[in-house]
Amino acid sequence: MKKCMAANWKMFKTKKEAVDTVQQLEASIDSNLPSDREVLVFPPFTAISAVSDALSENSSIQLGGQNFYPASEGAYTGEISPEMLLDLNCTYALVGHSERRHVIKEFEEIISQKVDFGLQSGLKIILCIGETLEERNQGKLQEILQKQISVLQDLSEDNISARLDIAYEPVWAIGTGEVAGPGEIQEAHGMVRTLLQNVFPEEGEKIRILYGGSVKPDNTAEIISIDNVDGVLVGGASLYADKFSQIALAGS
Ligand code: 13P
Repeated sequence: MKKCMAANWKMFKTKKEAVDTVQQLEASIDSNLPSDREVLVFPPFTAISAVSDALSENSSIQLGGQNFYPASEGAYTGEISPEMLLDLNCTYALVGHSERRHVIKEFEEIISQKVDFGLQSGLKIILCIGETLEERNQGKLQEILQKQISVLQDLSEDNISARLDIAYEPVWAIGTGEVAGPGEIQEAHGMVRTLLQNVFPEEGEKIRILYGGSVKPDNTAEIISIDNVDGVLVGGASLYADKFSQIALAGS
């Protein structure tokens, strides 16, 4: 299984900044990326088209959307559809990111519709999950992960591991500089693996589980060596081509 090294640029970068960053990134990773790694970039919507045009034809960088609305088209002011992302050469999309859950107030019902509709539309989906500090301190880690993974229960198992990844991002480690410790990551990823195997008895062990939360060049090699860690989803450090290229190549 290829490790997935993903950059989530959130609401950062103008078109020019995004193009400059992706071109520098491409120049530093393209000839060095091991064949068992995949690199994804999630620009803001407004820069996807320019970034796509700036990538070379055989680029090792794939693009994704940070969000979409679960309909093909329609009167949904301010939203964009999976087809629109596919039209801009996106192959992936994030669903259920912590900032969408906690800032935009998206919960399981819409998250479930997005996973379902995004997959049907032909996007690969990275479902983001993770507990708040309060939930962790109340001993609710397993309960929260189970609830967040329950949105997958009605999906067909057919080839699901090629179309779905999970990103475990503890909310208390996002943008705080506080990375979860190796023991905490191993424990949570082990729980996620078991929950995935309960939903998908055949495919559950093959679904990639990415870690996210204050990933940096100097902690990536250790994080991706932990059991059941199949890649990283990076916010802050991914905004800099030099830092993210070190992350993408870490330990290789
Ligand atoms: P940071 O890497 O800035 O902690 O953000 C993590 C994240 O939310 C990636 O989706």
